Amino acid sequence: MAALLEVKNLKTYFYKKKSVIPAVDGVDLKINKGETLAIVGESGSGKSITSLSIMKLVPSPAGKIVEGEIILDGKNLVDLSEAEMCKVRGNDVSMIFQEPMTSLNPVLTVGEQIIEVLMYHQKMTKAEATKKAIEMLEMVGFSRAAELINDYPHRLSGGMRQRVMIAIAMSCNPKLLIADEPTTALDVTIQAQILDLMRDLSHKFDTSILIITHDLGVVSEVADRVIVMYCGQVVEEATVDDLFNEPLHPYTIGLMGSIPSIEIESDRLQSIKGNVPSPEHLPKGCRFAPRCPSAFDRCFAEMPELMSNNGRTVRCFLHDTKGDKQ
Ligand SMILES: Nc1ncnc2c1ncn2[C@@H]1O[C@H](COP(=O)(O)OP(=O)(O)O)[C@@H](O)[C@H]1O
Ligand code: SF4
Ligand SMILES: [Mg+2]
Repeated sequence: MAALLEVKNLKTYFYKKKSVIPAVDGVDLKINKGETLAIVGESGSGKSITSLSIMKLVPSPAGKIVEGEIILDGKNLVDLSEAEMCKVRGNDVSMIFQEPMTSLNPVLTVGEQIIEVLMYHQKMTKAEATKKAIEMLEMVGFSRAAELINDYPHRLSGGMRQRVMIAIAMSCNPKLLIADEPTTALDVTIQAQILDLMRDLSHKFDTSILIITHDLGVVSEVADRVIVMYCGQVVEEATVDDLFNEPLHPYTIGLMGSIPSIEIESDRLQSIKGNVPSPEHLPKGCRFAPRCPSAFDRCFAEMPELMSNNGRTVRCFLHDTKGDKQ
């Protein structure tokens, strides 16, 4: 199947006075049309910077895409000018964030915010855009959409604001919706409703979704495939079924151990020992070695490549069929 988005060897670095931070360090990923790909990993693993790189919204001047390609529908976004990227954002790719209030304008009504997007990107008249805005709000589950367009965002609950953000993001029928921790700030029942909504919309419009989360529960709810990131690198890539049936990378296995389960008392929850290393002082060999319960000598000396064998993709010497495992 042809990929909608293909990211190849993406490197996005931050330049500080005395150091360089490889926030995204050689990431490859692919999303097919209509597919939902999740990126999962602990805080600081480079998930958000990967998605901001795809939007070409990396905090600048400190952050910079230094290498790689981001091919959307055959076009390399890395080569586009800011003016060209403005057309891509909103039209081809839209993004929603954890806290919708930061992206909603508090002085504009809900209706005005959607209408503005439609008039700018779709060149609609105000009347056309108003009609479409009401349709979009109905589609994301608001029954009183015609009244809601006159409300200001602060009058809405967190879940309602996220629905409004999804309506805005979907209003130009993007090929790709990027959602960075879209349900992290919401309580559990509302989380489930938002994930259901995203899944429905993706099926209805054949929209591809890139969802970023630190929560494997969210991955199992919505994703088809998943990429596990650690310290700026992909450490495992798999279908959701494969990942949950048989996680291969010791880091993925550790993350699985951290999923809260109603069957296990919360004080017996395992989590991964130790901390994510400082991105300025990354270990020389495998970046997970200092925390890995299976680490052996080679892991501290040499960095494993991302390797594919028998349909599974993992960056770990334990799964290196060519290498000399101990
Ligand atoms: N604005 C910034 N300036 C400097 N470094 C940054 C900035 N944003 C992110 N980073 C670095 O990039 C790393 C990855 O960040 P991020 O992609 O936000 O992680 P995640 O979304 O997985 O929690 C961080 O650990 C940090 O070191
Ligand atoms: S390469 Fe070694 S340290 Fe890294 S995850 Fe595999 S076993 Fe652990
Ligand atoms: Mg993040």
